Amino acid sequence: MADGRVPGVRMSVSTAYCEAWEGFWRDTPEGPGAAIFDCDAELAAGTHLPLLQPFADATLPIVDIGCGTGTQTRYLAAHFNRAVGVDLSQEAVAHARRADAGKVAEFRQLNAADPAAVDELHNNLGDANVYMRAVVHQSEPSARPAIAAAVATLIGSRGRAFVVELLSRSKSVLAQAAQGPSGPPPKLASIFDHGLTPAEADDALIPELFRSLGLTVLASGETDLVMTEHRADGSRIDLPAQWMVLGRDG
Ligand SMILES: C[S@@+](CC[C@H](N)C(=O)[O-])C[C@H]1O[C@@H](n2cnc3c(N)ncnc32)[C@H](O)[C@@H]1O
Repeated sequence: MADGRVPGVRMSVSTAYCEAWEGFWRDTPEGPGAAIFDCDAELAAGTHLPLLQPFADATLPIVDIGCGTGTQTRYLAAHFNRAVGVDLSQEAVAHARRADAGKVAEFRQLNAADPAAVDELHNNLGDANVYMRAVVHQSEPSARPAIAAAVATLIGSRGRAFVVELLSRSKSVLAQAAQGPSGPPPKLASIFDHGLTPAEADDALIPELFRSLGLTVLASGETDLVMTEHRADGSRIDLPAQWMVLGRDG
């Protein structure tokens, strides 16, 4: 559509889901790496950017959907005209603003499953690139099509998206890591204690969500998402993931 909006997708996020994330972020201390997934940007966006750059126009802004503390957003800000981190959680946005001492990025509360809010952001920014790390895999099933539609809306015809999401076999990695004699290590325990459900999405569904909206998978592969938590033996808990670059042409 001319205004970039993807038709037929309705907002679908439960109050319980919103409260789970608000509670998680409220209980997460300040500082880099306090959340299990909040790894150093060199180990996340730093490895993803070279996969996106051959396809992306860096003069467009980049939107980091589900930005959390904004660690990755701040890294991306050095490589694009403008970087905007958006997150469902007000608490996450507050973390991100406090962490951005140099004010290199902008942060806003936004539910990516709310098409009206996404339209407004697209109207404000124009076509943008999108970075999305680990959002769909733990979203409620009913919200996943709307989040995919947010990516489609924000990129419009000129932007490109880099999406990286946990593969379902991450669940067994997490289950094993939780089985030590003292139970799950603390940052992993915080995920479970707040009722969050990692790696629940079907692996094939994720690229299909985007294809069904007319997007093309321009490149894809598998990688590990680096975590900040360790097992009792000191080894880091990294999680298998799939990545894809998305756009409107082939
Ligand atoms: C697993 S964390 C990943 C955070 C960040 N992308 C990173 O890699 O560190 C998922 C983030 O997505 C946010 N989130 C979940 N559902 C969302 C939605 N519908 N719209 C926007 N953000 C959402 C959560 O609040 C959380 O900060």
